[in-house]
Amino acid sequence: MKLLEDRIQKDGLILNDDILKVDSFLNHQVDPALMMEIGKEFARIFADTNADRILTVESSGIAPAVMAGYVMDLPVVFARKHKSLTLPDNVYTADVFSFTKQVKNKIIIDKRFLHPDENILIIDDFLANGQAVYGLLDITKAAGANIQGVGIVIEKTFQRGRKLLDENNIRVEALARISEFKDGKVVFTED
Ligand code: G4P
Ligand code: NA
Ligand code: NA
Repeated sequence: MKLLEDRIQKDGLILNDDILKVDSFLNHQVDPALMMEIGKEFARIFADTNADRILTVESSGIAPAVMAGYVMDLPVVFARKHKSLTLPDNVYTADVFSFTKQVKNKIIIDKRFLHPDENILIIDDFLANGQAVYGLLDITKAAGANIQGVGIVIEKTFQRGRKLLDENNIRVEALARISEFKDGKVVFTED
């Protein structure tokens, strides 16, 4: 997606070998106009699916997921990161390990908002090691729902997330695919 790639080149900051800071338009300050274009692009790409619901994880997945849900006219559910020791009743849970932050989070979704046999689209801001998406897959399976695809705003192809999802035969569509950071610049994949 040209608009997104241009914005990443203009406003993205390369923090170290593998982290891209995009907090001026995606995950701290949010550019709603850009998010709407992202929502439209996901709607276009996934027009051949018949999803009932979009799932994401708080917090940074919410903005792109909500815009996609708006354009596709689908409800959006974000898994919550659960911090207290006691789990509430009637929730699906999965463990998600963050390599970036070196912490394990439990994510939870209330059973009222995810049902057996539903068709699910997952949307998230980053695909790095794939742990967040994998947690959502776990929850979707536990609920007896079906994954139709995963939409990612920014994929880093040099981390293991894509491979993990490919191995599970999951359809993954990313709007920007970064193959490396080189000389202070973001390099996108050609395909
Ligand atoms: P994974 O979800 O693909 O396994 O990623 P990983 O564990 O490596 O990353 C954990 C957190 O860091 C996730 O956010 C993920 O979106 C984010 N992240 C991964 N790579 C990048 C990057 O290059 N730049 C930025 N800005 N974030 C990255 P999270 O912990 O779920 O936090 P939140 O921001 O959604 O609240
Ligand atoms: Na995220
Ligand atoms: Na994030």
